[in-house]
Formats: sequence, structure tokens, C-alpha cells
Amino acid sequence: MADTPYLLEARNLCQHFASGRGGKRLTVKAVDDVSFGVRPAEIFGLVGESGCGKTTTGRTIIRLYDPTSGTVTFDGREISGGMTRGLRRYLTDNIAMIFQDPIESLNPRMTVEEIVGEGLTIRGVKDKAEVRRRVVEMLGKVGLTNEHATRYPHEFSGGQRQRIGIARAIITHPKMIIADEPVSALDVSVQAQVINLLNDLKEEMGLTILFIAHNLSVVKYFSDRIGVMYYGHLVEIARGDDLYAKPLHPYTRALLSAIPEPNPLTEKTRRRIDYDPERDHKEDYFSGNPVMTEIEPEHFVYCTPSELELYRDQVRGKADA
Ligand SMILES: Nc1ncnc2c1ncn2[C@@H]1O[C@H](COP(=O)(O)OP(=O)(O)O)[C@@H](O)[C@H]1O
Ligand SMILES: [Mg+2]
Repeated sequence: MADTPYLLEARNLCQHFASGRGGKRLTVKAVDDVSFGVRPAEIFGLVGESGCGKTTTGRTIIRLYDPTSGTVTFDGREISGGMTRGLRRYLTDNIAMIFQDPIESLNPRMTVEEIVGEGLTIRGVKDKAEVRRRVVEMLGKVGLTNEHATRYPHEFSGGQRQRIGIARAIITHPKMIIADEPVSALDVSVQAQVINLLNDLKEEMGLTILFIAHNLSVVKYFSDRIGVMYYGHLVEIARGDDLYAKPLHPYTRALLSAIPEPNPLTEKTRRRIDYDPERDHKEDYFSGNPVMTEIEPEHFVYCTPSELELYRDQVRGKADA
């Protein structure tokens, strides 16, 4: 797995927004020097608190924004360069997006059949019976039925709407899905159902998924690898089990400590740790240009040379981790 080439790869990706008016021009570095790769048929979880740049990363990849700098490749082809009709087509054919709020992303005046079938009609499938057939097939895949096809989004529950959004995303058989907090707006009881559905579809269709979430509990069970984002930077990337067993970056530790425990006894005594960059890093973190460094195979952490030594010791189990 480790030497499988990436399907999607971002290198030093930056998305800076100008904000403020007049004399006080400010730059929001929403995504700053972010590098990661997602392998074919993998679920990569991108996690971090609200405002850290997850959505901007997804939107920059699918070119809702032009990157400020850096490159993104998909299947070896650069998708971050000058926009052409060919590139737009390549992107929409290969990468589909699922959004957090299914009601905002589904046109209320369109029937489910029109919504789910839109990707086909846009691509010139004119035969209505053919569109209908494929829509019904997709509805079946996401756990809905053909009776749902003639209804409107408001007639459905949140979980069902997200299923509609998923059917719309996969009807054209993209290779990759970027799911931007697809379950954050759903009841906890429904979240697992939608996650299981995505997992099943991944297996069945060989999908690659970039799964964005603001906490680790959601991605914990089904991400192959996880990237932790803080203030526009990726601070740690590791296989899911490694991230839980030996988190290195203090921000990752803080995120992990926030996951509620299923056991009420231990939950009571669980200690939440917060992240305080001033306190939790050596001085050179702020002056010494930390870089993403591979500390053991498949485990990257954003650190300075002196922190690197510390983390190496922790990984080797020498220091008290
Ligand atoms: N179009 C935009 N113009 C200016 N600033 C933006 C824009 N989109 C996002 N931002 C800012 O970039 C940062 C990251 O936002 P976002 O990617 O939405 O974070 P997340 O999805 O992790 O919550 C935030 O500070 C946000 O206010
Ligand atoms: Mg977001």
C-alpha cells in the first residue's frame, strides 16, 4: 500500500484570500503549504476545527478556486494549472463533491429524479427512459426506491437527503468523492448509516474518498489515513491506527482527547487537553520554519529539527510519550 502511487496529490498547496479594505489589506492564509496524497480506493480523513481550511482545500482541488500556489495532480495529470474546457470536463468526470447541508445543496424545485439525473443530462444523455433507469439504479444503491424519484427534497429526512446527494454524486461514476462534513448536520443515530453507506459504495465502486470532518470521532473507524489540519497547515498525517496509538503533534493530542468515550466510567475521568501553541512547542516552532517530516513510514508530522528529535524518541518509545 505504502508505495502505491497517489490518485490525488496536493503539493505545497496554498489558498490565500485577500480581506479587509482600503489601507488595511489582510491576507487570510486559509490553506498554507499543504501537501498530502490520497491513494486509489482509500478513505483519507481530513480533520480539524472549524475555520482551519478544510472546505477551502476541497474547493481548491475541484477548482472552485484557483490555487494561490502549489500543484494538485489527479491520476498523474496536473489539475491546478490554467483552466480549460477540457480540464473542467476532466474534473467533473473524475471528482464529485458531497456537501454538509443536503437541503442547501439540493434544488427545492427539482424532483429527485431531476436532481440525481442532472449529471447525465448535462453530459448529453437525452433518452429519458435511460436517465430514469440509471436514476432508479442509483436510488437503489443508496437505499432509496423508485417511488422516491418523483418527490421533492423537502419531503425527505436529513439522512435521506444526504442519500440523494450521494446518488447525485456517484451517478456519473467519478473516481473520487470529496465529502465535506457529510454527516455533521445529521442526528448521531443517522450519521453511522450514512458513513456505512459511503463505505459500502467505496467497496462496491472502488471509490476513493476524501472525507472532511471537524472531529476525529467521525473519521476514526473508517479512514485508512488521516490528515490533521490546524490554521491552514497540515500538522500530522498518519494511518488511522498510528494516529490513535502514537499521536505526536500536540494539536492531534488535543483533538484525540476530545473524543467522547463510550464507557461512562472512564468518560467521567477523561481529561481533555487543549492546544496552546506557545506552551506546547519549543521556541523554534515559531521562528524555525517547521516542515512536514516523515518520522516513521507513513507517519508525517509538522515540526522543527529539535522537535523532530523529540518525536523520534517518542516513536521509538524512549521518551515518556
Ligand atoms: N471565499 C473566501 N474569502 C475569504 N476568506 C475565506 C473564504 N473562504 C474561507 N475563508 C476563510 O478561510 C478560513 C478557512 O475556511 P474554511 O476552509 O471554510 O474552513 P473549514 O472548512 O475548515 O471550517 C477561514 O478563516 C475562513 O473565514
Ligand atoms: Mg468547512
